Amino acid sequence: MFTTETYQRRRQNLVQQLETGLILLPGNTDSPFNSVGNCYRFRQDSSFLYFCGLDQSGLVVVLDIDSGREILFGEEQSLDDVIWSGSQPSLRDRAKRIGIIETAPISGLDRLLSASISAGRAVHYLPTCRAENKVTLGHLLGKSLSVVDNDISLVMTMAVVALRSIKGDEEIVELDAAADLGYKLHTTAMGMAREGVFEWQIAGELEGVAARAGRVLSFPPIVATHGEILHNHQHDQQLKKGDLLLVDSGVESCLHYASDHTRTIPVGGKFSSRQRDVYRVVLSAMERAKGLIRPGISYLDVHLAACRILVEGLQSLGLMQGDIDQAITAGAHALFMPHGLGHHLGLDVHDMEDLGEDYVGYDSKIKRSPQFGLSSLRLGRELQEGFVLTVEPGIYFIPKLIEQWKNESRNAEFINYARLNEYLDFGGIRLEDDILVTQDGNRLLGRPIPLQVDEVERRTGEGQPVWS
Ligand code: GLY
Ligand code: MN
Ligand code: MN
Repeated sequence: MFTTETYQRRRQNLVQQLETGLILLPGNTDSPFNSVGNCYRFRQDSSFLYFCGLDQSGLVVVLDIDSGREILFGEEQSLDDVIWSGSQPSLRDRAKRIGIIETAPISGLDRLLSASISAGRAVHYLPTCRAENKVTLGHLLGKSLSVVDNDISLVMTMAVVALRSIKGDEEIVELDAAADLGYKLHTTAMGMAREGVFEWQIAGELEGVAARAGRVLSFPPIVATHGEILHNHQHDQQLKKGDLLLVDSGVESCLHYASDHTRTIPVGGKFSSRQRDVYRVVLSAMERAKGLIRPGISYLDVHLAACRILVEGLQSLGLMQGDIDQAITAGAHALFMPHGLGHHLGLDVHDMEDLGEDYVGYDSKIKRSPQFGLSSLRLGRELQEGFVLTVEPGIYFIPKLIEQWKNESRNAEFINYARLNEYLDFGGIRLEDDILVTQDGNRLLGRPIPLQVDEVERRTGEGQPVWS
């Protein structure tokens, strides 16, 4: 955990941004897998982690903005809990660790909230994507589930987004640590990318790299010889020489900060000339983006600048044509990259997105575009020092999408559909790094993972024989 003062300071910063009422910060509870005695691996709510740091199930913190009271609600362990799960510190000791003096059982939370609601006091709470948390909030606040979503506190949500968006020094240490282990993940995958290996063997090894370091992956790994399937979790293909293998994987630090990297690897150790050409275009787009990231520039502009490099490259390969600005304005390049350039990274891999993607990635100055491709840009707003984000350009050849656009003659003035026929079996290439926005530019988080063509070729297939 961070220092006691860190959690106290974060809560003070939150309270100062709200005028009156109560702030309700529920932690997560264990979620049954197939019986209450067999749950999914516990993952604490990220906002609870940020403000309260305690990594156990069944805790709730209430902050009273008007009186300054802070209360940790939870249950002391029963003898049965100790027998089955081992001892935990008392509620009072856990509260003390994060600088909270008052503790009470969960039944006291019901009473406090009922009395406050009856007295007309505001109860501020955040959006949540977990169904059981919505049910709990509905029960605690006497609201139906649809009203729970509608009544979230916008002012609290915006305050939390503002605080969590700017990473403190202690958080950057964690993000660097996560990205350092990301190096191990991706060099392991490169080492394993040999003919005959199954995608699931690599996916399993990634879980193992994390587990052997006492960590967990920050999201289900994407391991795909069909890199054009943007989030492939199926992992049933056997690698063949000449395939491209896309690996998008990240890991959590001890305090649950995420890494998120992608590399695309030539199975057999050599890119074909066609693969190398496309790879270099994606790499150039990434380098362009990294060259632009600094405080004050909007990520929408960085995205568009990276797309310009993609269009120039695709034109040089004979796959696009025409005026580049017009092609980008029309969104023609989204045929090849239907997603955005990146997203915030922090305690969540898509950081804070359960609070609302648009609250996190956009603001009053920059609104999300509805255009295909741009509509998937998760982060468009102006960058600030302390933001941590991903840069993840790609080029994909998605046969069903190409077929649909071709049948509609969509953007036919910008796309060479005849030449594109030769690429229908290509797959996809994505490259992704994790970046900290600094005072005068940016820096890469973690140990650099092989990225240049010759480095990636050299590392491919050089690992230990694969366990069966
Ligand atoms: N890991 C999914 C992504 O890169 O956003
Ligand atoms: Mn990723
Ligand atoms: Mn990402």
